[in-house]
Amino acid sequence: MKHFLNTQDLSRAELDALLAAAARFKRAPVGEALKGKSIALVFFNASLRTRASFELGAFQLGGHAIVLQPGKDAWPIEFDLGTVMDGDAEEHIAEVAKVLGRYCDLIGVRAFPKFTDWSLDRQDRVLQAFARHATVPVVNMETITHPCQELAHAMALREHFGTNDLRGKKYVLTWTYHPKPLNTAVANSALTIATRLGMDVTLLCPTPDYVLDERYMGWARDNVAEAGGSLHVSHDIEAAYAGADVVYAKSWGALPFFGSWAAEKAIRDRYRHFIVDEAKMALTNDAVFSHCLPLRRNVKATDAVMDSPRCIAIDEAENRLHVQKAVMAWLAGGAA
Ligand code: CP
Repeated sequence: MKHFLNTQDLSRAELDALLAAAARFKRAPVGEALKGKSIALVFFNASLRTRASFELGAFQLGGHAIVLQPGKDAWPIEFDLGTVMDGDAEEHIAEVAKVLGRYCDLIGVRAFPKFTDWSLDRQDRVLQAFARHATVPVVNMETITHPCQELAHAMALREHFGTNDLRGKKYVLTWTYHPKPLNTAVANSALTIATRLGMDVTLLCPTPDYVLDERYMGWARDNVAEAGGSLHVSHDIEAAYAGADVVYAKSWGALPFFGSWAAEKAIRDRYRHFIVDEAKMALTNDAVFSHCLPLRRNVKATDAVMDSPRCIAIDEAENRLHVQKAVMAWLAGGAA
């Protein structure tokens, strides 16, 4: 069974084919690639872009999307095997995934970490359980990675630079302050796709505690070995921004502090100055700036950076619509 769980599962040819298909869908947004097809969008967490773009994308290609929110408008689900279900869950993933497969041609899943124990969260249990039990392809709509965002980001960069070959570009993934510890998914994904595309990647973060999980650091090293480019970790803001062609911002919680967030907050509060502002952008090679959104203005990036013509965050958000059409058509429509 073919799923879309991580871009790292795709060959470079498959990745490029999806981006090419997305470009075609951008030029011709309405069609019949999903005529008669349906997708169940299972949201365990809130969304604006993902929900809107999947629903509209299916509609514009002649398909249909239904949204289910377990624990809100759908029954709470149990994921453990062999458990005595005498708690809150009313049904088991084994039945949920199979039943949805009888109704729908695809299942999309958004399930963020629980933020108490990274050793559990890093197993990506909800997504993996859907993939194990489903009889139809499963799409990752953001769990501990965000591969749809990766495709939209890659597409926006290719559009901006006017080339599919991004090798030689200096790419800075910068941690930013946020009052709450956030998911590492987009940071894991940015690191993955930027190295996959052969860029010279710097991961800028306040301390070694904010370095990403070894699985994703390993994927990035593998990508550098295959695609060329480079990977560096830096805690030096000026050095990281110097000469950058791309600045991508995201906040995330430090993995060693999962479950001990009060201790982490004492550290993160010392790094509010990681905000992306005009002074830092002035150090770059007239870099483009982007972010997955949602973004807290004047906390993660200043108004001036967000309103600058160098900001491509809205283009990236638009591209979610086009790349997800490509993913859905590839998995359910047989076209890419
Ligand atoms: N970037 C992104 O996935 O946005 P939402 O959380 O609004 O879906």
